Amino acid sequence: MNDAHGKYTVDNCRIVRLPYTQGDYGVLTVAEEGLIPFGIERVYYIYDIPTDSERGGHSHYREHRIVAAVTGCFDVMVDDGRRRKVFTLRTPYDALYIPPGIWRTLYGFSAGSVALALCSNKYSADDYVREYDEFKKLVSNGLT
Ligand code: TYD
Repeated sequence: MNDAHGKYTVDNCRIVRLPYTQGDYGVLTVAEEGLIPFGIERVYYIYDIPTDSERGGHSHYREHRIVAAVTGCFDVMVDDGRRRKVFTLRTPYDALYIPPGIWRTLYGFSAGSVALALCSNKYSADDYVREYDEFKKLVSNGLT
């Protein structure tokens, strides 16, 4: 199996500004291929999120992802096994790119917030690493 652990760092996680236009209808924000660093195979969104809940808590072997706060705001902590960074998402057009092999945790959700995820792969439970110790092991194997 392809494994990206150890290949990317938190410095590869970055805000991608999606283009938006404002009109009488409101504001329209677009995410399309070419603007983001991978092809999109899956889209999902999370809503009715309890404000004290924590989501994520995993890394991926292969999957690249974009996360955006379509409504409201929340924090995303990214961790490459050596360093961590926190991004606060609070505008629908400033989305966070997370490459594979990066542990992420989403928290601090404002009431009514909606989290949008654009993914490079179809859902596969096998692509998830959900144990932090296993994540650390994979990172050190990937670095050697
Ligand atoms: P999970 O990945 O744990 O959510 P989060 O990372 O946001 O905390 O997914 C929660 C449940 O939903 C889990 O049983 C798997 C399922 N699921 C799908 O069936 N398809 C999907 O695309 C995703 C992301 C999750």
